[in-house]
Amino acid sequence: MTQTSKPAGKRLFVKSYGCQMNVYDAERMADALAPEGFAGTADVADADVVVLNTCHIREKAAEKVYSELGRLRVLKGERAARGLETTIVVAGCVAQAEGAEIQRRMPAVDLVVGPQNYHRLPALLERSRNGPVVDTEFPLEDKFDHLPAPSREAMRARGVSAFVTVQEGCDKFCAFCVVPYTRGAEVSRPVARVLADVERLAGAGIREITLIGQNVNAYHGEGPGGGDWTLARLMSRVAEVPGIARIRYTTSHPLDMDDALIALHRDLPQAMPYLHLPVQSGSDAILKAMNRKHDAASYLTIVEKVRAARPDIALSSDFIVGFPGETDADFEATMALVEAVGFAAAFSFKYSQRPGTPAADARDQVPEPVKAERLARLQERLEQQRQAFNAASLGKVMPVLIEREGRHPGQLVGKSPYLQGVHFDATGTGLRIGDIADVEIVALSTNSMTGRLVGSRASAA
Ligand code: SAH
Ligand code: SF4
Ligand code: F3S
Repeated sequence: MTQTSKPAGKRLFVKSYGCQMNVYDAERMADALAPEGFAGTADVADADVVVLNTCHIREKAAEKVYSELGRLRVLKGERAARGLETTIVVAGCVAQAEGAEIQRRMPAVDLVVGPQNYHRLPALLERSRNGPVVDTEFPLEDKFDHLPAPSREAMRARGVSAFVTVQEGCDKFCAFCVVPYTRGAEVSRPVARVLADVERLAGAGIREITLIGQNVNAYHGEGPGGGDWTLARLMSRVAEVPGIARIRYTTSHPLDMDDALIALHRDLPQAMPYLHLPVQSGSDAILKAMNRKHDAASYLTIVEKVRAARPDIALSSDFIVGFPGETDADFEATMALVEAVGFAAAFSFKYSQRPGTPAADARDQVPEPVKAERLARLQERLEQQRQAFNAASLGKVMPVLIEREGRHPGQLVGKSPYLQGVHFDATGTGLRIGDIADVEIVALSTNSMTGRLVGSRASAA
């Protein structure tokens, strides 16, 4: 069979696990392969190239990859019987952490590629035709510089809300976390590059931008005239791009929550009243052992300041229970912090020992049943807080960014400023996807809210 450098009509399937950075990277992989003649498919059995974009954050996430690979090996065999080639690619943080070990465990894998090398995907796929390939280097060049821009249609097909990576990697080295090893050192993209992405997205009709980074509020990208810009300055500039009605950012670290960023929640209409600020624990002893470099009181002070700037702001967080050495009293301190803040949403996890991280070797690991019991208690309380937050939305009028059509004729579905899903009847109004409508919340269900249209605005948030 003759091989051309630009095969036509190939199908790509990407499955992402883990954080928003992986969701964003999956789009960039599709962009990198589009000029090579690859189109996306939602049916894995139809794919010539299957990419698992993996997450290494907890043991369960990492192990999932191997069960998925087992299924893909079978699929590859079935397709081969029909004369079809299938290339299996493992990307993301498991690829970075385990490298060639993945192919030793699963020889059906053709290519292992770490998060910093997606711009090389076309060449790597080509090389993998001659045998297994592993690329987990941290190259000097910026992967984003080398990725082709997506078409207008591709951008819009992904919706009216888009992620833009502004910062990648982490220098914080929390004692439990693999990210500094899988994503490398903290790097901020230059302002001009971020703006070029945002302008292109806005030109395609995207209305909401979420600036993402493992430590997004540590952003310090090079400004157009030299000198570094903070996240606050970057957000103010992004807000000037015509068409951008909403700006979000995630994930922030308490240490980098500076006053300028807090003030933006008061002063910048496009800054959404929502802050995801992981705390992990409410115990100072555990926070210290975690190497978080903040204590419970300083977290509460930030919350106070943020609420003073923007009283209607919603807060969300991440928690770990059962970190080595966590006593009942430490856990009660976490429950007390939850009580003191009142979260609109949260993610909480049992501590998972990750190879290569300092806490993995600690001798005072917490027994599994204790972790399970603490997690259940914490999650129950966080769920009550989430429901209370949603219940307080009843009767309020909120601007809803319309994202898609609903299941019923005339129905539209969108998001409130607090990321709540809202559906409402818009029959005969001419409202379209990408518009912002004022909607009164009239009913609640577990995961969505029913609204009644009271007005519409095309550009304000
Ligand atoms: N950069 C972000 C998010 C990192 S990963 C931050 O600093 O907050 C997302 C979440 O996964 C973390 O906030 C933490 O709650 C959780 N996590 C990370 N490592 C973990 C581990 N070893 N076990 C359990 N949860 C973990
Ligand atoms: Fe992991 Fe801590 Fe860095 Fe977040 S700040 S990515 S939890 S090391
Ligand atoms: Fe997972 Fe890597 Fe994100 S470990 S959470 S995919 S940075």
